[in-house]
Amino acid sequence: MVSTIPSQQPQAKSSRQYLAEDLTTSPNQQILPLSARVNGQDHLEIGGCDVLDLVEEFGTPLYILDEITLRTACQQYRQAFERYYPGDALVMYASKAWNCLAVCAIATQEGLAIDVVSGGELLTALKAGVSPDHIYFHGNNKSHRELHQGIQAGCRIVVDNWHELKTLSTLVSNNAPATILLRLTPGIECHTHEYIQTGHIDSKFGFDPDQLEAVFTYLAQQPHLTCIGLHAHIGSQIFELQPHADLASVMVHWMEAAKRHGLPISELDVGGGLGIRYTEADDPPSITAWVQVVCEHMVKACQVADVPLPRLICEPGRSLIGSACVTAYTVGSQKTVPGIRTYVSVDGGMSDNPRPITYQSVYRVLAAGHMSAPLTETVTLAGKHCESGDVVIHDAQLPLVSSGDIVVIPTTGAYNYSMASNYNRVPRPAAVVVKNSQACLIIERETETDLMRYDRLPLYLGS
Ligand code: LLP
Repeated sequence: MVSTIPSQQPQAKSSRQYLAEDLTTSPNQQILPLSARVNGQDHLEIGGCDVLDLVEEFGTPLYILDEITLRTACQQYRQAFERYYPGDALVMYASKAWNCLAVCAIATQEGLAIDVVSGGELLTALKAGVSPDHIYFHGNNKSHRELHQGIQAGCRIVVDNWHELKTLSTLVSNNAPATILLRLTPGIECHTHEYIQTGHIDSKFGFDPDQLEAVFTYLAQQPHLTCIGLHAHIGSQIFELQPHADLASVMVHWMEAAKRHGLPISELDVGGGLGIRYTEADDPPSITAWVQVVCEHMVKACQVADVPLPRLICEPGRSLIGSACVTAYTVGSQKTVPGIRTYVSVDGGMSDNPRPITYQSVYRVLAAGHMSAPLTETVTLAGKHCESGDVVIHDAQLPLVSSGDIVVIPTTGAYNYSMASNYNRVPRPAAVVVKNSQACLIIERETETDLMRYDRLPLYLGS
């Protein structure tokens, strides 16, 4: 007799495994945008738009930004501060993660302030309609011109070092005063890639603690510089909560020292840094859990020091926008090195996502047109650039794919477009924002002609 016992084999995984269960979860704990679904044709849909249709209309590579995920992350930060902080609070978007008009406009609509680090980011925030007193200008080597731009705009300037402080004092006047914060190096270490640690003492950013008393003394004699706060940022892609718990008492300590010099300090900015889930191995705390720890420790540190609560500021970047965006690529050539590996190449790579080659960052990939197909293949997903290290993912799990198929890399919202380059004279991709089944172009695709815009051919070389 033939037995008909059903197979005990577990179902092979498919790209569906990355879908978020609902819209209420913490975006930084999800690999795909919150609105990602699989439609009747087994295609990936984001913001109600079929990714294959988006690609048809806008081409690849394409950054696809899910508005609802970004807005949800903004709201979760703000609501958590309302819940856990009894004083005034301000959430800022660290726009270095992705600075463009549309993203700044969404963040500001959600009530967030914007952190900028260059004249270019400042101008973009202003053009996006951000009010100057909601712009904080960071950076360890702002130029004369940038400082001047900051003063003229009337934004807050986060002063990083003596050189900048002295320069700034020559630029301000009765008619053009500046409101500033001081960045300090808190001496707190955290576990993340060494390139993105910033709070330890050996860091290029901020005043060392042993410089601060002299800085406070100097500032007390500057009539046109009003120092309203202190700032620190300890690093990025951090999963631990302890560093931010420790930071509160360091900052309260220096706030009190500054006040003893008569400085009107009312703001403490604890930076950003909350990590996100790029793969199943990543387990960051939720936005709410992070805010809760930040608030509770600030309240406790103020109680211990017996001082009033400051306006508490934080400035996340990655955890606001990282999981809100995916990048769609078209599969092109494939090469199998027998017994070693199969390379599957896509039409982008290190120029639109420099994170794998820079930080050895690991990503996931999905077959956007075959969401339920079992992930039977292990391949090296390669970029198109003339560089062996241009690999998007080592050992990527995919169904069988062929030339023309569309693959999607999730969690590309942070530090992808903003760090994109034209290496090999590859034009930078377009970006669309999706919502309610509508897609809107927010960044046009560069053209090859654009790439020559700043080239000049000296006459003697012309034909
Ligand atoms: N505030 C300051 C002063 C910062 O320097 C940064 C990030 C942030 C806030 C935002 O940190 P987040 O919440 O995004 O972790 N390119 C690297 C990340 C560099 C982070 C630079 N500073 C990467 O792709 O991982």
